[in-house]
Amino acid sequence: MTKVVVGASSLPAGRNMSSQLDYIKKMQNFGADMYHLDVMDGLFVKNQTVDYTYLEQLKMSSILLFDVHLMVQNPTKVISKYAKAGANILTIHYEAFDDDKKFIKALKKIRKLGMMAGIALDLDTSVESIEPFLKYCDLVLIMSVKAGKGGQQFSESAIKKIKALRKLDSKILIEVDGGIDNISSQKAVKAGADIVVSGSYIYNNEAYEAIQSLKGRN
Ligand code: DX5
Ligand code: ZN
Repeated sequence: MTKVVVGASSLPAGRNMSSQLDYIKKMQNFGADMYHLDVMDGLFVKNQTVDYTYLEQLKMSSILLFDVHLMVQNPTKVISKYAKAGANILTIHYEAFDDDKKFIKALKKIRKLGMMAGIALDLDTSVESIEPFLKYCDLVLIMSVKAGKGGQQFSESAIKKIKALRKLDSKILIEVDGGIDNISSQKAVKAGADIVVSGSYIYNNEAYEAIQSLKGRN
């Protein structure tokens, strides 16, 4: 059984700091491996959620790895804030850049500040488009829903993208995010994913059972 890394999305806990603190404690107690901080600025996507100020406080109350998913218009501007706040993985959207050199510069800056660099691919972006950038990142986040909100249906098109990416690079960490439940998680892992992220499936079910089932444990 391949080891599946499970990230719990911060989305279900909303923007209230004390509910975030309660939620992350629960996720840690029930066996999540990472806290997937879904950062939305209301510009790159229409919703607005948490930011690095939440990360500073959450970091003090959890030993979980912080996997930060930046859905923001100008990621370069905030990279150092997330480094200082304690992000372990910082993932930026390919679609947030209109210049390859700036994209590479941002990925290099993430690594230089001691974090793992991730590239996020939205639902309609092809895997081929990020081929030239794979050498500058440690992880690729394949969206299986349109970035911007939780509770959407898993899109099977992500499976083909996982397989295509795995073919391009046998080593890269592949993370899948959006509409993940025990069924889609197994499909994603079978296709080559290493990490799955879940918001609603964990939130709407008994969290411990849900996390264990994402790990393929029952
Ligand atoms: C969507 C976020 C995902 C998603 C996860 O933009 O990046 O992390 O909300 O939530 P569910 O599991 O409900 O799709
Ligand atoms: Zn996410």
